[in-house]
Amino acid sequence: MKYPTSWKSYELIDIGEGRKLERFGDLVVDRPEPSATSKKGAVSLWDVATHRFTEQKGQKGSWNKPVPDFTIEYQQDEISILFQLKETAFKHLGIFPEQAENWDFIVEQCAHISESGTQPRILNLFAYTGGASLVADRVGAKVTHVDSSKTAVNWARENADLNDISTIRWIVEDARKYVERCIKRGEKFHGVILDPPIFGMVPKGKNWKLNNDLEPLLSNILKILDPEHQFLILNTYSPQLPLPDLKKMLRGIRGWPKKFEATTLGLKSTTGRELELGNLVRFSR
Ligand SMILES: C[S@@+](CC[C@H](N)C(=O)[O-])C[C@H]1O[C@@H](n2cnc3c(N)ncnc32)[C@H](O)[C@@H]1O
Repeated sequence: MKYPTSWKSYELIDIGEGRKLERFGDLVVDRPEPSATSKKGAVSLWDVATHRFTEQKGQKGSWNKPVPDFTIEYQQDEISILFQLKETAFKHLGIFPEQAENWDFIVEQCAHISESGTQPRILNLFAYTGGASLVADRVGAKVTHVDSSKTAVNWARENADLNDISTIRWIVEDARKYVERCIKRGEKFHGVILDPPIFGMVPKGKNWKLNNDLEPLLSNILKILDPEHQFLILNTYSPQLPLPDLKKMLRGIRGWPKKFEATTLGLKSTTGRELELGNLVRFSR
């Protein structure tokens, strides 16, 4: 399992019995986490939670009290990014902290491409609140950010404003359609990042279904990767797509590289427990 080690303002304190206890800056949040199947650590640890999200079967969940809007900072070497976090109705706060492991990979890959005298061109699909887009922009890449949700793109733009970033290309569109348009236009990218959900709503379009849509999308993505320098980051969170099945599917895609990294992505708690949060596939060549 890969997990980030560079967070200072975020900490996974403990997990267990279907929940996770996390610190975001000064807030300590206790939220549902289906992957947290172990026993919890000391009960007293969990007493410090300032905010709790609970859900009953078949019902929409709720917070015990309103979560204020707040910011946290991600720092790694000379990179610093602020994130605007806020309460959502679906237990999320606007960031997936495990993704910081991928941000370090993006920094490394972009540095490598820049060293050859080329400005990295990065496509972030299913890009949500823009963590990967902001990091890539910070290290000098030309970034295209695509998400089918206008609300998500607006949130990412808010994050960009907070960091005085004004050079990202924002696209509200279905990732599949956008990639097809890039193929038609002959547009190429050095890095493609994708974090697709199991199911995604596409206003005025065909909804996204990971099971049916991932394979053809990846096949198309291979066509828009720059032949000179290229890297790809893929995350999937579906229990219906375990890592061995995903690897098998990838090996069946025409042009998929023989050598690629396939592992799980997660977080390690302060109490020493590992929380697996999905599959992670990466390659660079
Ligand atoms: C799991 S989140 C991605 C999280 C992101 N990697 C991060 O760390 O911030 C999935 C995102 O995919 C978007 N989405 C769902 N279906 C889509 C589609 N067909 N095309 C583009 N975006 C889609 C959702 O709006 C959501 O923002």
